[in-house]
Amino acid sequence: MAELLLKGGRVLDPSRGHDGVADVRIADGDVVEVGADLSADGEEVVDCAGLWVAPGFVDLHTHLREPGFEDAEDVATGSAAGAAGGFTALCPMANTDPVCDSAAVAEMVWRRGREVGLVDVFPVGSVTRGLEGHELTEFGELHHSAAHVDMFSDDGKPVADALVMRRALQYATAFDAVICNHAEDPDLTSDAQMNEGVMSSVLGLPGWPHEAEEIMVARDLILAAGLGARLHVPHVSTAGTVELIRAAKAKGVRVTAEVTPHHLSLDDTRIASYDPNLKVNPPLRTTVDVEALRAALADGTIDCVATDHAPHPPEQKDQEWEHAPCGMLGLETAFAVVVTDLVGAGVLDLLTAVARFTVGPAGVRDVGGHGGAIAAGAPANLTVIDPDARWTVDGFALQSRARNTPFEGRELTTRPVHTFLRGRPTLRDGKVLL
Ligand code: DOR
Repeated sequence: MAELLLKGGRVLDPSRGHDGVADVRIADGDVVEVGADLSADGEEVVDCAGLWVAPGFVDLHTHLREPGFEDAEDVATGSAAGAAGGFTALCPMANTDPVCDSAAVAEMVWRRGREVGLVDVFPVGSVTRGLEGHELTEFGELHHSAAHVDMFSDDGKPVADALVMRRALQYATAFDAVICNHAEDPDLTSDAQMNEGVMSSVLGLPGWPHEAEEIMVARDLILAAGLGARLHVPHVSTAGTVELIRAAKAKGVRVTAEVTPHHLSLDDTRIASYDPNLKVNPPLRTTVDVEALRAALADGTIDCVATDHAPHPPEQKDQEWEHAPCGMLGLETAFAVVVTDLVGAGVLDLLTAVARFTVGPAGVRDVGGHGGAIAAGAPANLTVIDPDARWTVDGFALQSRARNTPFEGRELTTRPVHTFLRGRPTLRDGKVLL
């Protein structure tokens, strides 16, 4: 196991509120010492002067597409995208084929993550068998498997039946697991193509009203509150949802929430281009919503950034708007988008931005020591970022098998240069080490 000394970096450790230059010594996969002017004792020295050293990022919402949709992505290519984006832990969603509704599938995905070895993979189990919305998945079977599943979601399919959702929340409390429900009232969105509003009228596309999200979030908050159960709201996209979560948190409801980089950065005026890479569910919303999401991430109403990294092969994504599937890549651009658009605009301070990629998601489910302190005894899951990097997003140059980035051609600032998983480099000098 490599022994390393990360020398002279700006160590950003939100778990301790630490932001200052320090050296980090790594041995046997752990951080063994953090301090000023540590001298090398035979270790390899990594010059981090002028660079940021942060805990490895944690993504609660990733689509690795394996098993079943390996034409879009697989555990290896998605893990490479994660390492390139500074992530050391990914939580792949259950909408695979077969669905992740059994210990066999969860363990297979988890084990593929270990074999690839670029990030730790913590599968999300489905709430219902086959994502069909009726019969609950055996949460206990997945929880007690080697994959230790403690988060359940039917991903893009909402659990529409309130009784099924109530039973899911109740069942999950037995394991202190969290239910993550795609917040969309399907009756309100049957033909939807984009956010309902001025832009959908201008473009003549059927709208996805913000109420469809808020009605479902309100229902789920009421159910979770009644049971004392844990609810996680994925990809919050509307100002109204922010209000609901804020009020619920103030009342002590056990709710957490995530927001995607694309909902923090892009609004529905962009869809005038009809670029299918901008089609996503929930859809890009208005500038008012974007402002509310940014404020909620800053004040902690929204706990974390999650990518909803959703690769699609070009032959499916590169179609007319109406026919293109929903979803965008996110892993390799997530942190840079948040720094460029939020930290750069003064909406978020840097340490809080790092917190929303680390301690924030790590507080939602058990991710085995990722996203925690940079301190002696902690696993050396770290990312080192060049704050001065300026790069132009090019879908063809990304690690992901797909190239459906909504940020094509955007110039972003900051980029991870090294990522370490338990002290082993997975990204070194900007190159993924397979
Ligand atoms: O845009 C999306 N894509 N939203 C979802 O909820 C599912 C995801 C996918 O699997 O492609």
